[in-house]
Amino acid sequence: MNKNRYWILFLTVLLSVYSACAHTMEKESMKTVIEKALEHANSQSLILAKNVAALSGRLPKSIKEGKLETSLSDWWCSGFFPGTLWYLYEYSNDKEIGKYATLLTERIKKEQYNKNTHDLGFMLYCSYGNALRLTGRKIYKSILINGAKSLSTRYNPVVGCIRSWDFNKDKWQYPVIIDNMMNLEYLMWAYKETGDERFKAISVNHANKTMENQFRTDYSCYHVISYSPETGRVMVKGTHQGYSDESAWSRGQAWALYGYSMMYRETKNEKYLVQAKCIADFILNHPRLPKDKIPYWDFDVPEIPNVLRDASAGAIIASALIEMSQFVDDNTAKRYLDVVETQIRTLSSSDYTATVGTNEGFILKHSVGYFLAGSEVDAPLTYADYYYVEALLRYKKYILNK
Ligand code: GLY
Repeated sequence: MNKNRYWILFLTVLLSVYSACAHTMEKESMKTVIEKALEHANSQSLILAKNVAALSGRLPKSIKEGKLETSLSDWWCSGFFPGTLWYLYEYSNDKEIGKYATLLTERIKKEQYNKNTHDLGFMLYCSYGNALRLTGRKIYKSILINGAKSLSTRYNPVVGCIRSWDFNKDKWQYPVIIDNMMNLEYLMWAYKETGDERFKAISVNHANKTMENQFRTDYSCYHVISYSPETGRVMVKGTHQGYSDESAWSRGQAWALYGYSMMYRETKNEKYLVQAKCIADFILNHPRLPKDKIPYWDFDVPEIPNVLRDASAGAIIASALIEMSQFVDDNTAKRYLDVVETQIRTLSSSDYTATVGTNEGFILKHSVGYFLAGSEVDAPLTYADYYYVEALLRYKKYILNK
């Protein structure tokens, strides 16, 4: 072989190695990412469902000391896993998933009469709300209406908000936490279902009062506002789960974003969309939002970047932004969806998604429940999985199948 032929051979080999590498490095399409993620979620959730079904009356919570941690139905997160199963049933029509969704949803039934918590939206609407939507079973409707009535008993017209917690009465006379915005979707459903204007009035008043008092000028929000139940005056502004009273706790920002986007969907009142857009700007323009768009557990922890991420906040933000992309102009929608794409790719990668059969059957790793209390730190959480699956389905429905 002469010298030239050696060169040609060498260059041909080089070219094929390069094109093989380029091929493997090519990004998968979002369609493929979403389909794979939903298939994975289906398999993984079936494992968790089987394990939990065998534990009488229990529902999944997280992993503690390497073992599956479960709760009774009165824990604020009881509805998320049944809700995830309903979403997956909607996706796959898998009868086994449907069977476990029904079984675990029914474990929450007694909470329809629980007047000691504001979390009935999470507990009942994520579970029974999806169950009713997908099966139309009448019994689910009456359970949901009873639950909405129980939740409404926590509304004080002087304050104009639903009371969140009953603990720490010395510190907070009438605490309202930003998470509480998430209950309003349930009450708006109850209004549409029954025609009872009171449900709507509570939702609208709560959203308005929260908008007035819970936000800072940069549209970040406080976790907790405590009011005087006698005068409705703001008494305390602070946090419970965040880094500090003046910090921006990531999940709180996520609940706020989702809450106002949802209130715009439900009422078509423009001011809620404006609020949601301003919250989105706070989150998306934040200099401490990492490149992969999964927030640290609080935006203001001094040790950033050596701080844990909160996958749950990432999943809630993704789901909310997909919805918002349907309400805004094309440029803004593109800006939101670019972030969503990064979030979904990140969460669906092995950095956050557990291999099937590991992580006790939870889909995602790396969420933070309550960092300063050392509770559910760098752990799987049922609401991270719920809003992640919701985001996957929303992306499929609104973006891929539009
Ligand atoms: N307090 C509900 C949450 O951790 O987001």
